[in-house]
Amino acid sequence: MNNRSVSPHAQPQDKSIYQNLRPTQWDDYFGQDLVKKNIKILIAAAKQREEPLDHVLLYGPPGLGKTTLATIIAYEMKVNLKITSGPAIERPGDLAAILTNLRKGDVLFIDEIHRMSRAVEEILYPAMEDFALDIIIGKGSSARNIRLKLPRFTILGATTRLALLSSPLRDRFGSIFRLDFYSQADLEKIVTRSAVVLNVPVKVDGAQEIAARSRGTARIANRLLKRARDFAQVEADGIITGEVANDALMLMEVDKKGLDNLDRKVLHSIIDKFDGGPVGLDTIAASISEEGDTIMDVVEPYLLQLGFIMRTPRGRKATSKAYQHLGFDDPEQPTQSSLL
Ligand SMILES: Nc1ncnc2c1ncn2[C@@H]1O[C@H](COP(=O)(O)OP(=O)(O)OP(=O)(O)O)[C@@H](O)[C@H]1O
Ligand SMILES: [Mg+2]
Repeated sequence: MNNRSVSPHAQPQDKSIYQNLRPTQWDDYFGQDLVKKNIKILIAAAKQREEPLDHVLLYGPPGLGKTTLATIIAYEMKVNLKITSGPAIERPGDLAAILTNLRKGDVLFIDEIHRMSRAVEEILYPAMEDFALDIIIGKGSSARNIRLKLPRFTILGATTRLALLSSPLRDRFGSIFRLDFYSQADLEKIVTRSAVVLNVPVKVDGAQEIAARSRGTARIANRLLKRARDFAQVEADGIITGEVANDALMLMEVDKKGLDNLDRKVLHSIIDKFDGGPVGLDTIAASISEEGDTIMDVVEPYLLQLGFIMRTPRGRKATSKAYQHLGFDDPEQPTQSSLL
């Protein structure tokens, strides 16, 4: 199993525990204002009552800050954070072992919670609801059911696919929050803060350029910043200006809207191979030899957000905006030659 544990006594500046770019305090966690406000209220109320936090489920595309939120919540509640993931908990016994090791108030973060097996999920139901573990001792006619009491703890679930979560599991969360893509202004703040952590000078227009091309995603903003830093160091004088950022991003084939090669491949496939759609996601995936899951989790949400594709009952369709962005003639608009 791949589980991690973070002590509540660790300080944010302890870089061996907290990845240095990951904020550990609300002040450094930009954007997601509504989620932040709601969670702050949950935390304040739980603290006043001296109770553990109710279970929270976070969902949204990858890289928007779910794991980071878990870190901040545990830090604010001054409790231990245990980190695991759906696929890492292979057998019911694995989860039972994790649960019996929790202390009162601890936060157990389960990433990719939609990938937990049914058998494991069934252990979680009474654990979340009644803080109890049902175990069967013995076999056949002598088998006995024993109920073990657990300390009150908090499950923080994270998923990129809310729809794949079974409804009994979903219903056991006290609150469910959706993380959204970040605005340009918030991404600029993230880039500027990360530049300080990385100790690289970045000009306002440099931060703007990186933010604009980060697909609304905090993790991508940090990744592009690191590559712009490399570029500035080797090809310029170490300072990330707008021009340096633009040159670095061009070299990485990230275009003005932040689309990368995979995004463009998906759009090209819909337009070139399937006449603009509608076409099923699996067919698109097969046509470019990619995993359907990657396209669904990573590519599609951003293309939908930009209005480059539409979901129809018969599959995905490219919009006029996508045609224009890729420099194709828009099939919906009459071209110069067809007007003659
Ligand atoms: N609101 C934020 N403010 C500043 N930085 C952020 C914010 N959210 C995320 N980040 C940065 O983005 C990186 C990715 O965030 P995180 O790992 O929390 O995403 P995630 O939603 O858990 O992704 P995944 O679904 O892939 O696990 C973090 O290392 C952190 O530096
Ligand atoms: Mg994560």
